Amino acid sequence: MKLTHDTILITGGTSGIGLELAGRLLTRGNTVIVTGRDPVKLAATREKLPGLHAIQSDVSDPEAIAALYQKVTAEFPALNVLINNAGIMRKIDLQDGSTGLRDITRELETNLSGPVRMVQQFLPHLRRQKEAAIVNVTSGLAFVPFPLSPIYSATKAGLRAYTRSLRFQLKNSTVKVFELAPPGTETPLFRNDFEEVKDMKAMDVRELGRLALLGLTKDRLEIRPGLSNVLKIMSRLAPELIFKQLGKLADPMISQHR
Ligand SMILES: NC(=O)c1ccc[n+]([C@@H]2O[C@H](COP(=O)([O-])OP(=O)(O)OC[C@H]3O[C@@H](n4cnc5c(N)ncnc54)[C@H](OP(=O)(O)O)[C@@H]3O)[C@@H](O)[C@H]2O)c1
Repeated sequence: MKLTHDTILITGGTSGIGLELAGRLLTRGNTVIVTGRDPVKLAATREKLPGLHAIQSDVSDPEAIAALYQKVTAEFPALNVLINNAGIMRKIDLQDGSTGLRDITRELETNLSGPVRMVQQFLPHLRRQKEAAIVNVTSGLAFVPFPLSPIYSATKAGLRAYTRSLRFQLKNSTVKVFELAPPGTETPLFRNDFEEVKDMKAMDVRELGRLALLGLTKDRLEIRPGLSNVLKIMSRLAPELIFKQLGKLADPMISQHR
């Protein structure tokens, strides 16, 4: 993809990786539309990136996706790139009974059902474009689960599996299917909920943005910057070893239940 005169929709573009990608794509001469739930963050993003279009929409809500489709395809009929980036990540103690049945699946609705529904809704439109792309943002944790975030890890492994099948089904179409699997990256998602990783160095979000764009413009269908590539290799060479390493961070939480 050239990513110079494209029309690009990014879910969750008001913070972190989505915001970084939005800024870079705008600078390259694209039309960029971002979504998010929080109107204050949407307004701040419009102010920070003049020329950007920001629409309130919750990717975990199927009706909101249908309404977003109507609005975006009416106002931006040239839309040809969809970046499924919106995501949430929580530390969840599965032995702590206080997480309710509705709450426990929140990541599934946002990180997995969200992108699947977005693709279902936008694919016919994308298929009509001369050149189109879908970018699903997974994670290094799609290769090895992180026991502190069991639901999140399941969503990212699930989204990776779905993305591979989607790519296979679209192999004879004009729609390219990318997977961007970031490693730990300095954003509110990485820092907010996780005392356990406070001493861990994460990738600078600008570097992640640079590597993501490099991969997309070189048509690398699976983009695994930094540690994500290490996690993929380790998941093949020594899967139990790397899983135990990540699991150690959950030991203090588990030991509370002895
Ligand atoms: N940072 C990392 O270390 C890392 C590593 C691997 C993968 N990733 C993935 O990268 C993506 C972006 O993460 P980030 O680190 O940039 O997080 P972030 O800074 O927390 O940004 C998340 C964005 O998604 C939006 N969002 C959250 N829930 C949404 C929903 N239901 N509907 C629409 N928008 C929603 C947020 O805005 P509102 O809250 O206003 O909706 C915000 O704009 C996620 O898919 C994440 O899993 C991140």
